[in-house]
Amino acid sequence: MITFDEKRNVFHLKNDRFSYCFSVERGKYLLHQYFGRPLREFRGSAERPAVDRGFSPQPGAYENERTFSLDVVPQEFATNGHGDFRIPSLDVVLENGTNVVELWYEGYEIKKGKPALEGLPALYASDDEAETLEVTLADTKGRMKAILSYTVFAGDGVLTRSVRYMNTGKETLRLENAASLCLDFPDHDFDRLSLYGGHAAERSLERIRLMRGTMVTGNTRGASSHQQSPFLALARPKTDELSGDVYGFSFIYSGSFRMATEVEQFGTTRVIVGINPDDFAWTLAPGDAFQTPEVVIAYAHDGLNGMSQAFHQAYRNHLLRGKYQHAVRPILVNNWEATYFDFDDKKLDDLAACAKDLGIELMVLDDGWFGHREDDNSSLGDWKVNREKLKGGLEGVAESAHKRGLKFGLWFEPEMISKDSDLYRAHPDWALHVPDYPSSFSRHQLVLDLSRKEVQDYVVNSVCDILKSGAIDYVKWDFNRHLTEAFSAGRTPEHQRETKHRFVLGLYSVLERITQSYPDVLFESCSGGGGRFDAAMLYYMPQTWTSDDTDAICRLSIQTGTSYVFPPITMGAHVSVTPNHQVGRVTPMQTRAFAAMMGCYGYEMDITRMSDAEKQQVKEHIALYKRLRPTIQLGTFTRLLSPFEGTKNETAWMFTSEDAKEIALFYFKTLSEPCTPIRRLRLAGLDPDAAYKIAAYYPAQSLSHDSDGSGTGTLVGRTFYGDELMQEGLNVTKINTDFAAYLWVLEKVMK
Ligand code: DGJ
Repeated sequence: MITFDEKRNVFHLKNDRFSYCFSVERGKYLLHQYFGRPLREFRGSAERPAVDRGFSPQPGAYENERTFSLDVVPQEFATNGHGDFRIPSLDVVLENGTNVVELWYEGYEIKKGKPALEGLPALYASDDEAETLEVTLADTKGRMKAILSYTVFAGDGVLTRSVRYMNTGKETLRLENAASLCLDFPDHDFDRLSLYGGHAAERSLERIRLMRGTMVTGNTRGASSHQQSPFLALARPKTDELSGDVYGFSFIYSGSFRMATEVEQFGTTRVIVGINPDDFAWTLAPGDAFQTPEVVIAYAHDGLNGMSQAFHQAYRNHLLRGKYQHAVRPILVNNWEATYFDFDDKKLDDLAACAKDLGIELMVLDDGWFGHREDDNSSLGDWKVNREKLKGGLEGVAESAHKRGLKFGLWFEPEMISKDSDLYRAHPDWALHVPDYPSSFSRHQLVLDLSRKEVQDYVVNSVCDILKSGAIDYVKWDFNRHLTEAFSAGRTPEHQRETKHRFVLGLYSVLERITQSYPDVLFESCSGGGGRFDAAMLYYMPQTWTSDDTDAICRLSIQTGTSYVFPPITMGAHVSVTPNHQVGRVTPMQTRAFAAMMGCYGYEMDITRMSDAEKQQVKEHIALYKRLRPTIQLGTFTRLLSPFEGTKNETAWMFTSEDAKEIALFYFKTLSEPCTPIRRLRLAGLDPDAAYKIAAYYPAQSLSHDSDGSGTGTLVGRTFYGDELMQEGLNVTKINTDFAAYLWVLEKVMK
């Protein structure tokens, strides 16, 4: 997978999806050469002509060679001060106050498998699944080294990159920018894709022409955030869901990040990914090392679905861990939208009884069970059950669920502290704060200083004290504000700007300790919905609550947006009541159910208050989901129609089971329209030579298998070859209702 061509000084990283090549120029500089479809061998057919470019300086060693400048070559790693004026990989301040070092190639090592990154979540692989190249760059004055890591996976269309910065000299260094990745493309003929949003409106796709100058996706919130996701893609302009070249970048990090593109004077494009330097500095003493988080790069020549499937496969096989990595997830009911803070033992017992009757498998007790928390003003940090509310304690609620054969889950928000809490009264300095100015509040709460070991220990112990009863099968781990005044009472001035990154490292350490101690517990991360839906959190917790917006129509966009990077098995998706609590929309139960079936299915409503007819419908939906669950959660996901494209009025999702024998095809139309063309749905990824039977069809708002009189339903029981289903496709009936949802189930019957 990884070779070094001694004659041409070229590293060639290759699998059956791509080749990635870079060379060692003049024995010193790493120049990017090629990234795209696999090459037999890289020989340099597009050798760059030597051109003397004005205002592009020569490094000191090449004073008389006016055609050589670091400003005009594609670099794998860029430093300050030697004539490359683009965004650098590194900004390091020396004791003399300057920020210029000179890092030259020193050597390389190729390893089987993939070494772990100390203290950081990252993809993992066994020795026969991947190979890792480590290239060392060393400062010519011996001050520091940078070790660039590249891992290629045998069966996946992804490559990972990270850097380890080491202080090898005698003076203290201050890192003010320590990027994980620098990658230069020879042109800028790209669309730039990113995912933006806000609370309850996460991950809308933005696709714009890549512009000259610098464009940044990122934030300084101390979290991967609802506002900008740590994802970026560059796609050739005609790229669509099923064709075209695309390069996707996903950052395995949960704090402030920066993903920048820079199109410079000659039209080339630099991509820089790393911790956001606006929010970071790190003091590196002699002998110390700093490990950056990892970037996952997915290359696909078969469009945006190709990129997404490469991410999905890599994350399912090399990121998620533990008992639930490849296991279907339980169908849950969560009491948040059912009761908010207003519940007692009796109400929860009624919910459990009803849940069991409907076929639900897990009951989750959300916020409000601890301290004296009657609203969101108090008690975060006091993880002791409120016995006035729950007379039988947590044991009682857990027992009521367990005795009915349900699993029991519990909500925590362990990184937070309320001003009105025993914890704050005992340890006011445990909240992130600055000495001279008042702290900023958000949802009436402050953030615990997880950069401190004693605070990490408190969090681990208080959560484990509850989990050790053995009564908790599932944990929802919430995080409901971003970091302000992010400084630490436990740190000297020169280390204060490390606090935000140390907070993230502290969180990872806490999560590792807790999740490894309770391997049978299913953990779901949450941050006011999907405010920390990132690959790093998925390393510890294999699913995330996708959004606080539970409206089915909003969820079509939020879940489709999320699917550009993350597979359905990672997305919490629940049916809620109408009018919807976030947007007031009234949608049919079947549309709500079909939208929620895209992920880890559940209910977020007072199921005890449903009519008998509604309960019957819910039972049928749950039975249907249980049947399709392995296909949806463990199969391959394909977007056929995206709500971010065209009229933005239609969405179609296709799920293909692992053995490729079952297909679930969902189609949604938001608003009905007069006089529109009949929608043709062309399937994708089928075996053209295999025959598929239309096993079931669920027309809008009915679980009936019968024809809806349109012709489409009469196809049930008929068989078609894969080529026809992909080229000709299926027609959707004329729709005369808003918020319509349809489902076809196909079975491969012969090859
Ligand atoms: C935000 C979460 O996203 C909600 O689902 C719920 O758990 C609330 N927090 C509880 O405060």
